[in-house]
Amino acid sequence: MNSATTLRSIALDHPATIPVFERFQLDYCCGGNRSLGDTCAARGLSPDVVLAALAEAVNYEPVVEDHTQASAAQLIRYIVETHHAFIRSELPRLQAMAERVASKHGPLHPEAALIYRNLAQLAAELFAHLNKEERILFPYIESLERSRNENSAPPSSCFGSVESPIRQMVHEHEGAADLLEQLRAATQGFTPWPGACPTTGGLYYGLNAFEADLHRHVHLENNLLFPRAIAIEEQLLAAR
Ligand SMILES: [Fe+2]
Ligand SMILES: [Fe+2]
Repeated sequence: MNSATTLRSIALDHPATIPVFERFQLDYCCGGNRSLGDTCAARGLSPDVVLAALAEAVNYEPVVEDHTQASAAQLIRYIVETHHAFIRSELPRLQAMAERVASKHGPLHPEAALIYRNLAQLAAELFAHLNKEERILFPYIESLERSRNENSAPPSSCFGSVESPIRQMVHEHEGAADLLEQLRAATQGFTPWPGACPTTGGLYYGLNAFEADLHRHVHLENNLLFPRAIAIEEQLLAAR
């Protein structure tokens, strides 16, 4: 990739660069046949700065952190700041792309309409889910941990044991994973159809990354945070 490469071919060969194009507001889709150098010149941008950001996006490898020693409160902060923030910024972006792809390619590619529908349902369900975690379950888990650390009485709740909202959250995780799984199956593992435009390529790439992030997110909750919350509650009850 250099300043003579067209934006379209950069976006097709390296879909990880699409967020960079969006950040600099460079049209990689309809106007994507222009070279990076020409586009930057027209926009008054330094091609070197844009090339550096593109190269960084291509080489980006997510850092895998070890959370096994984190407190519940630290884990919650990480989940909210990383994964909840990602869903809130990424899902509307994917929905907007899906709307464009469905309206343009829906007649020939029925999976485009399915993506649009499933993302709308996913957004409705996931945004409510994040709010329930952030407003009810997570603060309760933090107060359980605080009571355990301070040796004080367990906090009161309207739902009895913490296991009850946890069961509901786990159930909702399965619903979200199912919606993405349907899309994965309908798109042969998020593989764009031959000759697909860069927006479709970017959407499929984004869906794949979104699903991977959701898997890491759910893993931290189902397999680390929730069992820890249940164990803390049991410790507190045993100490009474
Ligand atoms: Fe969450
Ligand atoms: Fe969750």
